[in-house]
Amino acid sequence: MSTDDTEPSESKCGASSSTDTEASESSGSKCGATKTETAESKCGGSSSTDDSTSKCGGSSDEEEVGSTVEDFDADPGRLVAVGLGPGEPEGMTSRAKTALAAVEHIVGYTTYVELLPDDITESAEDIYSTPMCGEVSRTEEAIDRALSGNDVAIIGSGDPNVYALAGLALEILESKGGTASMVDFEVVPGVPAAQSCAARVGAPLVNDTVSISLSDHLTDMPTIESRLHATAKEGFTIAIYNPWSRKRRENFEKCCEILLEHRDEDTPVGVVHAAGRDDEEVEIVTLGDLPDLGETDLIDMTTTLLVGNDETYVWDDRMVTPRGYETKYDY
Ligand SMILES: C[S@@+](CC[C@H](N)C(=O)[O-])C[C@H]1O[C@@H](n2cnc3c(N)ncnc32)[C@H](O)[C@@H]1O
Repeated sequence: MSTDDTEPSESKCGASSSTDTEASESSGSKCGATKTETAESKCGGSSSTDDSTSKCGGSSDEEEVGSTVEDFDADPGRLVAVGLGPGEPEGMTSRAKTALAAVEHIVGYTTYVELLPDDITESAEDIYSTPMCGEVSRTEEAIDRALSGNDVAIIGSGDPNVYALAGLALEILESKGGTASMVDFEVVPGVPAAQSCAARVGAPLVNDTVSISLSDHLTDMPTIESRLHATAKEGFTIAIYNPWSRKRRENFEKCCEILLEHRDEDTPVGVVHAAGRDDEEVEIVTLGDLPDLGETDLIDMTTTLLVGNDETYVWDDRMVTPRGYETKYDY
């Protein structure tokens, strides 16, 4: 087993070479790819370990899918996308723990690997971690390891279906000429950040809610702005993911401007930084105060914002969004 905090680990699978073969023999890993390209991992395009200075979306050269299913001789193993929840081991579902204990290889972004409980990292035969970005190459690495005969988990925070890699894994499998069933592909859900963060501030999301990510890495900003307008106008409560980075400062500012166009400045906003992690911070603020928080440590790439609707209020330090019971029942 190996983890590396700053540099990508060497690939044990996929494009095999003499180095790869040695590595796989020493770990007992089953790597059956027959390609003879570079021994270097194709993962970890960016060497940045700082979320807020991420260069995601830069070069696409490092993100090209390489081998196809034809390049693998072995009987495929399994591929499971596992959601870890917010971060603390207690926040993981027991199904996620069981799934991780059952696999041989774990593949993930370094920060998420560091969140794994010790018993899981100790029981894994190999752990492949890469810094921020390189999602395509990291996901392909997981797929190649599964195609080589290993049981593999690709991990992420929250849930694999929320701004995460479950869909990418299926898309890459398809582009390699494979099928989901050949690796017995499975998604093990986790608690999404919106729900973990909502729990920290009371009951802000109990009515119709829309999630919006401010990351313009894969969706352009005009589209994000139009979604924000539509959502804010319609009165949904809103969970805002990826709210801030140095690169995304303007997106945050634009988001606040759009929200204030449609909502009262007294609208409560739950700001939850790093729910379930050592540096967790929670505040309930007003929408009018939100723009000024962009430059504080409270709002960064590990923060989720929960914007109330017209009926959301703060009671005893908790956000409350009525669901409508009060219109039908006396209490
Ligand atoms: C790429 S998305 C991944 C979302 C994840 N799959 C989920 O289901 O929550 C990353 C964003 O999720 C939110 N996030 C993830 N973990 C968080 C946590 N522990 N506390 C607050 N927000 C979190 C932040 O908005 C962060 O920018």
